[in-house]
Amino acid sequence: MTPRRRLALPALLLWCLCALPAPARSQSAATPAPASNEGFNCTANATYPCQAYALYRAGFGGVPLELAAIGDLFAASRFMVAHANNLSTSAVLAARQPLLVPLQCGCPSRSPNAYAPMQYQINAGDTYWIVSTTKLQNLTQYQAVERVNPTLVPTNLDIGQIVTFPIFCQCPTAADNATALVTYVMQPGDTYASIATAFAVDAQSLVSLNGPEQGTRNLSSPEILVPLRRQVPEWLPPIVRVNNISTTPASPPPSNTPAPPS
Ligand SMILES: *[C@@H]1O[C@H](CO)[C@@H](O)[C@H](O)[C@H]1NC(C)=O
Ligand SMILES: *[C@@H]1O[C@H](CO)[C@@H](O)[C@H](O)[C@H]1NC(C)=O
Ligand SMILES: *[C@@H]1O[C@H](CO)[C@@H](O)[C@H](O)[C@H]1NC(C)=O
Ligand SMILES: *[C@@H]1O[C@H](CO)[C@@H](O)[C@H](O)[C@H]1NC(C)=O
Ligand SMILES: *[C@@H]1O[C@H](CO)[C@@H](O)[C@H](O)[C@H]1NC(C)=O
Ligand SMILES: *[C@@H]1O[C@H](CO)[C@@H](O)[C@H](O)[C@H]1NC(C)=O
Ligand SMILES: *[C@@H]1O[C@H](CO)[C@@H](O)[C@H](O)[C@H]1NC(C)=O
Repeated sequence: MTPRRRLALPALLLWCLCALPAPARSQSAATPAPASNEGFNCTANATYPCQAYALYRAGFGGVPLELAAIGDLFAASRFMVAHANNLSTSAVLAARQPLLVPLQCGCPSRSPNAYAPMQYQINAGDTYWIVSTTKLQNLTQYQAVERVNPTLVPTNLDIGQIVTFPIFCQCPTAADNATALVTYVMQPGDTYASIATAFAVDAQSLVSLNGPEQGTRNLSSPEILVPLRRQVPEWLPPIVRVNNISTTPASPPPSNTPAPPS
């Protein structure tokens, strides 16, 4: 028996998002690089690792409607998820509420694809496909899971076994003019125009990053990249900001309200 070597992220690595000033001259457009079923390719023009985000909808696939449960899935603390969304750590989440989940995106072990490695413990009934399409909301695909776990046999997983799920992500190039990139999974009915509106970016930037729009019905890789133009959480994209829910579990009872000084 050989001890399994796990991909461990440095827990206390603080990210310095050194703002890259956009080059004043010859801002060449980025080459579109859509995801395949193994994710987004690592590119020489981007700097790895970087801070990235995934758009994740709360209360889906049996994941409890709690910041901590979502954080556990993405190796982020409750605090990190709350902070990224300008929520209090005790915030009550709404079902399907869109959240930005912070990711540490890189190209580990010279991987050809960029990803954030998540350690997941196999439960009864789990397969790579089921976990990818339910709990992880298609932020990864089973082909990529197979690639990053070359020593595991996908058809012979043991309950309790730890599997690395590579969450698709990408680091921006200077031409992307973005502080970070969000991995967004196209939903039925989504268009570049509707997604661009939801993130307050222009639809052309989605074409530049992901190539021409395809119908969602027949899209084998529904993951796209959306640029963020400002730092989170000082600036939140509208899709996150419009969350119309209370950020505190309950208002304090009236008896606790101190009497105004007279
Ligand atoms: C990388 O940058 C160079 C120079 O700006 C550009 O010509 C090239 O298209 C870029 N490649 C990608 C994949 O964006
Ligand atoms: C990603 O890399 C693979 C392998 O090198 C290549 O076949 C594919 O065309 C690349 N995809 C993009 C979008 O550049
Ligand atoms: C993920 O993709 C699968 C296959 O296309 C689809 O059946 C499933 O509904 C998707 N899951 C989510 C959460 O979008
Ligand atoms: C980069 O984004 C900022 C903020 O949206 C915008 O003001 C600026 O014009 C953009 N620069 C380029 C070169 O696209
Ligand atoms: C996807 O599109 C291709 C070509 O347009 C078509 O042959 C194929 O049946 C479609 N697949 C699905 C699942 O709709
Ligand atoms: C964060 O939320 C507080 C209220 O909880 C609000 O006052 C503040 O403006 C928000 N900040 C941003 C950047 O949205
Ligand atoms: C947001 O919540 C407030 C108070 O609960 C409600 O009055 C308002 O109509 C809601 N807005 C939307 C867009 O749902």
